[in-house]
Amino acid sequence: MTEVFNKIEALDERLSELRKQHKTIGFVPTMGALHKGHISLIERSNRENDTSVCSVFVNPIQFNNQNDLLKYPHTPESDIEMLSNEGCDIIFIPSREQMYPESLKLENYHFGTLETVMEGKFRPGHFNGVAVVVKRFFDIVQPNKAYFGLKDFQQLAIIKDLVRQIGSKIEIVECGIIREVDGLAMSSRNSRLSAIQRKVAPYIYEVLLAVKEKAGEMSIEELKAWTLEQINREDLMKIEYFEIVSPISLMPVNEQNKHLGSVACIALYMDEIRLIDNIILFL
Ligand code: PAF
Repeated sequence: MTEVFNKIEALDERLSELRKQHKTIGFVPTMGALHKGHISLIERSNRENDTSVCSVFVNPIQFNNQNDLLKYPHTPESDIEMLSNEGCDIIFIPSREQMYPESLKLENYHFGTLETVMEGKFRPGHFNGVAVVVKRFFDIVQPNKAYFGLKDFQQLAIIKDLVRQIGSKIEIVECGIIREVDGLAMSSRNSRLSAIQRKVAPYIYEVLLAVKEKAGEMSIEELKAWTLEQINREDLMKIEYFEIVSPISLMPVNEQNKHLGSVACIALYMDEIRLIDNIILFL
């Protein structure tokens, strides 16, 4: 039976009981508008833990664009239904007041160069907002493991660094990107695409697959130029960035170090809807 909590105190009481029974806790933080990508995280948490907790909270402080926040999809009934069907034990849907009471002192985290490139460069303040809310959830839920998707590649690097900075023992589990049958990476934002945009959107993955294929023969500069040309050909897409970076430092790779590990990351707009995706080139 899935239990739904809105208040930290009640959730804490329930989790304390479970901890006393030596139950392990897996945690999946989400902003709702759930899709199969989120559900795959719950599935994995269910497999690896006695209890799975999923939070649904659209975190206002991680949105640098207020319009994006206002338009962020809300589907609470279907979220609860999907999570119950998947056998998620506990759903936590807090209010803003619960998460950010006036008495709470908001931390300021620094992630060095991890936050100055790609998403960090184009979304100032975003990763601090993510770090603040994730730390708050970690304090509330105190899970053994927490699950994050590789679609948000940079977010994962930030979370791992956060865990290191705060000296937490929570195990961060990275989970593969879940795609639609046509290759589009699943995202809550996909629901905002018009029919024609949705039809065109899988082109992102098509281009990324071609990048991976060409990575052996083209230089980094050639690959970047080729990719920009491909995306610019598509009238409905407006590229924000395309970078080929080290999966550890997130710094751009060069011809000398690219074989030690590189991932191609892309962000683009379809109208006002921002989509991101990535593909590992060398590992
Ligand atoms: O990836 C997300 O959905 C959010 O950034 C997260 C981790 C739930 C924090 O609000």
